[in-house]
Amino acid sequence: MKYVIGNWKSNQNISQSLIWLDGLSALHPKFSPEVTVILCLPFTDIASFNHKISDLNLPIISGSQNVSHLAPGKHTGEITANMLSELVNYCIVGHSERRQEFSETSEIVAQKARLLLESSITPIICLDTPYLDEQIKALFTCDVDVSRCFFVYEPISAIGIGKPIDSVSANHIANQIAFLTDNAAPILYGGSVSSDNAASFVRENCIDGVLVGTDSLEPTLFAGIITSLS
Ligand code: PGA
Repeated sequence: MKYVIGNWKSNQNISQSLIWLDGLSALHPKFSPEVTVILCLPFTDIASFNHKISDLNLPIISGSQNVSHLAPGKHTGEITANMLSELVNYCIVGHSERRQEFSETSEIVAQKARLLLESSITPIICLDTPYLDEQIKALFTCDVDVSRCFFVYEPISAIGIGKPIDSVSANHIANQIAFLTDNAAPILYGGSVSSDNAASFVRENCIDGVLVGTDSLEPTLFAGIITSLS
């Protein structure tokens, strides 16, 4: 199985997310049974988006981009894994933007992953080389079953600039992640993925898919990536 995961980040309100779905549907992208398409949305969009995916009969699975590291309780404003469990099957954790802007540590990311798995949500764990070993070690320390996670190698230097790293270098790090996680989980690449380069990453033997930021916001570009892998 190959994976295309979109990450809208802090973009799109409910109306815009529904217009996006209409746009994608009108393009009739070639969805292959060999390619799972997941879209990670802002919390506020998820419920309406889910209704519309089923109305349009689109094979897209929704995910979120964050979750609380705390269990349900007195934590005003937090969105817990339990709350998300009725809405999504996947959740991104440990994105470098959250590490940089919200001081998230490898321990917090591991706690989030554990709580997600307890709610049967697959954590999509983002990694970069400076903290790759530390993050994976924190997962094992926190008793996270890595075989139930997804991992994404996302070099910070390639995010949002329109210039990915080359697929051979990405595969080299994906191989390292596979080794550290007992070859048990899907491993993806993220960072300036487009329809021109997505297939080159997925052709590599250790890379199972791509995480797409900028080019997931525009239905035509996202459909192009889905089609390029089908
Ligand atoms: P990008 O973002 O595709 O815009 O580089 C990827 C990401 O940050 O997940």
